[in-house]
Amino acid sequence: MVEWSDSERSTIASVWGKINVDEIGPQALARVLIVYPWTQRYFGAFGNLSSATAILGNPKVSEHGRTVLNALDKAVKNLDNIKGTYSELSQLHCDKLNVDPDNFRLLADCLTIVVASAFGSALSPAVQATWQKFLSVVVAALSSRYF
Ligand code: HEM
Repeated sequence: MVEWSDSERSTIASVWGKINVDEIGPQALARVLIVYPWTQRYFGAFGNLSSATAILGNPKVSEHGRTVLNALDKAVKNLDNIKGTYSELSQLHCDKLNVDPDNFRLLADCLTIVVASAFGSALSPAVQATWQKFLSVVVAALSSRYF
């Protein structure tokens, strides 16, 4: 069971409060698909992913990026039970979508990079540390069905 200090709780709430889901979600998912092209295999139904420009302009990528990021809201609101909160989502990615769980970490890292470029100096090293602790708990929860 992960312990969260009051300061970590307020940092996560503050970072989350400043994230524009409609911008950051599409950018984070597009970045995963561009930087780690093998992740495109899961999105065969999304149409044209043939270049970075195509991915960045693909409306299905943008919409799904928003869906993924909106799902993080549940983790922010259930910090003390992220594993339980994501048990169905973990099952879906494992049993139905057959997503390799290593990819959760890749998405989390791209999300941190996109947040860092949007926030600039507001993402201090201390804030980044707490934000990445949060994302690593999310990644572990999404991976729980696999192990
Ligand atoms: C922080 C990590 C992630 C979260 C929170 C997340 C969340 C979600 C959510 C909420 C859905 C929709 C579920 C539904 O329709 O009931 C979904 C679907 C899906 N996810 Fe993830 N996901 C994550 C990472 C990934 C990664 C890394 C991949 C693959 C590289 C992936 C591949 C998919 C696919 C293929 C679908 C179905 C898309 C469709 O056909 O509409 N997910 N995910």
